Amino acid sequence: MTLNQSPTDPAFVQNPYPVYARARAAAPLQFWEDYGMMAAFSHEAVQTLLKDRRFGREIPAELARPHPSHLAPFYAIDDHSMLELDGDTHKRLRGLVLRAFTSRRIAALGPEIAALSHQLIDSFPSKDFDLLTHFAAPLPVRIIARLLGVPEEMSPDLLRWSNAMVAMYQARRDRAVEDAAARAAADFSDFIRSYIETRRTDPRDDLITQLIAAEEDGTRLSTDEMIATCILLLNAGHEATVHTIGNGMARLLSAPLRARLATHCAPAAIAATTEEILRHDPPLHMFTRYAYEEVTLFGHTFRRGDQVALMLAAANRDPAAWTDPETFDPTRPVKTNSAFGAGAHFCIGAPLARLELTTALPILAARCPQMQLAAPPEYGDTYHFHGLTALRVRV
Ligand code: HEM
Repeated sequence: MTLNQSPTDPAFVQNPYPVYARARAAAPLQFWEDYGMMAAFSHEAVQTLLKDRRFGREIPAELARPHPSHLAPFYAIDDHSMLELDGDTHKRLRGLVLRAFTSRRIAALGPEIAALSHQLIDSFPSKDFDLLTHFAAPLPVRIIARLLGVPEEMSPDLLRWSNAMVAMYQARRDRAVEDAAARAAADFSDFIRSYIETRRTDPRDDLITQLIAAEEDGTRLSTDEMIATCILLLNAGHEATVHTIGNGMARLLSAPLRARLATHCAPAAIAATTEEILRHDPPLHMFTRYAYEEVTLFGHTFRRGDQVALMLAAANRDPAAWTDPETFDPTRPVKTNSAFGAGAHFCIGAPLARLELTTALPILAARCPQMQLAAPPEYGDTYHFHGLTALRVRV
């Protein structure tokens, strides 16, 4: 089975779900011509592959090629990012971050997320405005900056650097995108490096302080790893959350759901509504893995070095796992979906992202009960990221 589908085709970018449905109905695994690799579309295949340790993110050593020199600053970070590593190094880096991401520290952010939500709403313009730039983007970026201990005034730079860097994972990547990503990586890393220096003598109760302690211990974290970890957390800590809030609010404000905005965002309902937002229209659609040995699964034999795409958003609409999966139904029973991945790289930030959504959306719905769409929302040409270019609303 072969799938021919350009990931930059405008109709697909706006609504990839009919293509996913056809692909999934044909076979759980198919060769996606445009990516030159197998792709998994069913809930079972995606979950199985994500959890199978014979597959991983890191390229097998014999296939690794030197990075082109114009991308050196980008890969100086990416090569040390836990998201691109497996085995002991991944475990060590992930363990250090998990130790800092205690449930106590995450829960303590609840009141701060609430206060920041109110503050952002207080500053809403009186005319039509973009909910992404006025709410969905500043909220998570300022919260992750606080968690790390980076000054919030840096938020505009963090957003700019992060947007330029994550474009490297998008299908529209070209030389201009690569040059911008390399520049952003160099600037971001210069900032983090010098900021860490100023913080060495100024310990606080934040993640950077904890990472500095691990680095100074000399065995647990190298300086390059610390920089890469900070940048990964700052980037991953908001990119997906921004677009989950955007995609979710676009759905909740669409007819006929808008009439029930208050009900779906009520404290008793918001956890289920959040899971349905993540299931129905997640912000990240595809992650890839390499096979590390010969493996036969779902009728296909992978050889070492073969890549496979895990289609998270396709898995989330599998009729074998959910009744009437194309329908957005916040009242459906909650069941694990693939929006945060699964297995060794399962999203570290899932509890924080959930807390942000379950705190911010009820405040938004309660403070702006008259909110309505001011223009039909459009998705950006950023596949595999699936997020809106803007969400024009009026309150
Ligand atoms: C709704 C928001 C979010 C979504 C949908 C999301 C989704 C994901 C997914 C699918 C992965 C796994 C990628 C793979 O398996 O290859 C992942 C990994 C990761 N996420 Fe998130 N994420 C979100 C928010 C966050 C936040 C708020 C943070 C930081 C605080 C974060 C930090 C990370 C990190 C560090 C990893 C790498 C984990 C590893 O490699 O072991 N994410 N995320």
